[in-house]
Amino acid sequence: MLEDVIALNSGDSVVQNGATSIVGQCVVQLAHLRGIRTINIIRDRAGSDDAKEMLKKLGADEVFTESQLNVKNVKSLLTDLPESALGFNCVGGNSASLVLKFLRQGGTMVTYGGMAKKPVTVSTSAFIFKASQSLCCELSLRGFFLHNWLGSDKATECNRMINYLLSLAKEEKLRYQMELVPFNNFNLALDKALGKLGSQPKQVITF
Ligand SMILES: NC(=O)c1ccc[n+]([C@@H]2O[C@H](COP(=O)([O-])OP(=O)(O)OC[C@H]3O[C@@H](n4cnc5c(N)ncnc54)[C@H](OP(=O)(O)O)[C@@H]3O)[C@@H](O)[C@H]2O)c1
Repeated sequence: MLEDVIALNSGDSVVQNGATSIVGQCVVQLAHLRGIRTINIIRDRAGSDDAKEMLKKLGADEVFTESQLNVKNVKSLLTDLPESALGFNCVGGNSASLVLKFLRQGGTMVTYGGMAKKPVTVSTSAFIFKASQSLCCELSLRGFFLHNWLGSDKATECNRMINYLLSLAKEEKLRYQMELVPFNNFNLALDKALGKLGSQPKQVITF
């Protein structure tokens, strides 16, 4: 997602919601390795300060809770970051609108998940004021589905990417919070994964 949608250069910024997710944590680290800055949005919940700290340690430049972005001009909260050309949305609802607010004119938002189970709504002003002078570079809304990406004619590219990611993980340049759970604790792990016990790290069952 970081490479295929638009060409990003060192110094550019991307914005994402659901930043505490495993995908979000990977986006932070992979962007950081390439000198791409990240603006991260997390939901308001118990432990959000710890979540902010965790993301900053991974290389996040800015981390905001949704309620912190309840201001007229969210970009005024940025210190030295450029407006984002690319945004990632895995939540939907108001959180997707917040991603849009950080996009620059002609920017692109990619939706790859819908954790809030609410539709993405786009304000009229976003369509009008995020349009660029050239009609070919309007605000752009796209989707991403890994299954389709893997199923396309990209076997070589896919292998290269997986090997790259594995090498980063081995070097501990790509880390993510997870909890290893023995199989006999499956029910508890399932409840945690379903969010019944509040926010929990990813549950990985061991056999
Ligand atoms: N399109 C694709 O090909 C593709 C592939 C893989 C995954 N995905 C999607 O990518 C997203 C992230 O996956 P993951 O495995 O990385 O997730 P994950 O590690 O299980 O994390 C779940 C994330 O969703 C947030 N969340 C949960 N319920 C929420 C709600 N009601 N409102 C707002 N945020 C909520 C959590 O925030 P807290 O930290 O606050 O709990 C956390 O950031 C999911 O939507 C998943 O379906 C898409």
